[in-house]
Amino acid sequence: MTIAPVQQCRILATAIPGPRSQLLDKRKRSAVSAGVGTGVSVYVERAGGGILVDVDGNHLIDLGSGIAVTTVGNSAPRVVQLVQSQVEDFTHTCFMVTPYEEYVAVCERLNALTPGDGEKRSALFNSGSEAVENAIKIARVFTGRVAVVTFDHAYHGRTNLTMALTAKSMPYKQGFGPFAGEIYRVPMAYPYRWPTGADRCADEAFDAFVSQVHTQVGEQNAAAVIIEPIQGEGGFIVPPAGYLRRIADWCTQNGILFIADEVQSGFCRTGNWFACEYGGVVPDLITTAKGIAGGLPLAAVTGRADVMDSVHGGGLGGTYGGNPVACAAALGAIETMETEDLCGRAREIEALFMPRLRALANKFDVIGDVRGRGAMLAIELVAGAADKAPNPVLAGAVNAYCHRQGVVTLTAGTFGNVLRFLPPLSAGDDLLHEGLDVLEQAFVATV
Ligand SMILES: Cc1ncc(COP(=O)(O)O)c(C=O)c1O
Repeated sequence: MTIAPVQQCRILATAIPGPRSQLLDKRKRSAVSAGVGTGVSVYVERAGGGILVDVDGNHLIDLGSGIAVTTVGNSAPRVVQLVQSQVEDFTHTCFMVTPYEEYVAVCERLNALTPGDGEKRSALFNSGSEAVENAIKIARVFTGRVAVVTFDHAYHGRTNLTMALTAKSMPYKQGFGPFAGEIYRVPMAYPYRWPTGADRCADEAFDAFVSQVHTQVGEQNAAAVIIEPIQGEGGFIVPPAGYLRRIADWCTQNGILFIADEVQSGFCRTGNWFACEYGGVVPDLITTAKGIAGGLPLAAVTGRADVMDSVHGGGLGGTYGGNPVACAAALGAIETMETEDLCGRAREIEALFMPRLRALANKFDVIGDVRGRGAMLAIELVAGAADKAPNPVLAGAVNAYCHRQGVVTLTAGTFGNVLRFLPPLSAGDDLLHEGLDVLEQAFVATV
């Protein structure tokens, strides 16, 4: 039986959330832990292209991709095909018990696609947090050192070690300590909020990094510096030109591994396969997840062969890491990214969004900054033209308006005042323009 493709238009069949979603939400409240929040309480029945269809028949424009995951689109044809065939062949053996080709093939693809021409190796895991934890484990074994340097506004996950790496307390860390030790936080080069101005940000942030690592950690104690080449949950903060390269070079000079956390920014999202390519950086280790497998849970650490191979046999792994169905999905997703030139599509989306976001910022002085790359774009909301005080209340109101009008937007930022846009790269231009029309209406209605 062939299923008809999802109709690519916004349809408001009921108020949002509709009655069936409301009933499901009631069930959710009595069945699911209150600790698990939902951004938009519509329950999804189908999805594809740039549309989410809910149980009440509403068609919502997806500007979130399930937080940067469905980069190739939901149920992308090649992903579905390879997953279906894999499910029929076998669903699990555990790669550590009896291995299979799909795991090896994904590692080969990752080794070839990630920056750097040197010999590389990969290991597969289930989530971004797990990949980050393992990158730190590998860095510690290779260097024989323990300290890890992380940044203000960083987000690396919700497990114990990755909570320690993550900057923001509420809601990610609040009440969940004590956290893993030997983690040191330094200022992030955040051009819009750099105290002495964006022009001085790169130099001063680099100097602060070097000085704080020297005085508070000691270079000889540091195993790794971990950084998101474009910070995600922290508010899509794009570091100034040259900054990443200077940090990476300094790490090399000091025997410290440079880990690029590309869990959110990787796999065509920013218009390159990986965002660190914009900085001309070849990381020692790179962590990936989210967009890698079209929605199935898969994550990876990829890096220099000598570093990856320094770990004792059996030191890395897990029951489900590199599950064959998730690997089949990754092979389908990567093939789709290549055949459909999704890096090019992300750049087209940037060219469509940026002029409209800038025009909006010219009209509404509460939009203090417009930033991002490819299909990873954001606006930062503030009190007004002369006052950069974060405006999370307005961000919440604009976000809620968009949801009621059938457009799924997401917020982000240490101060909760950033609206971020992460459309699937399978969304058509008309839908994206309509999403932006609704965003504009939201500002007219709420400011
Ligand atoms: C940069 C980055 N690292 C790590 C993670 C954690 O990934 P996961 O939620 O799959 O554990 C995220 C998730 O948003 C992320 O954006």
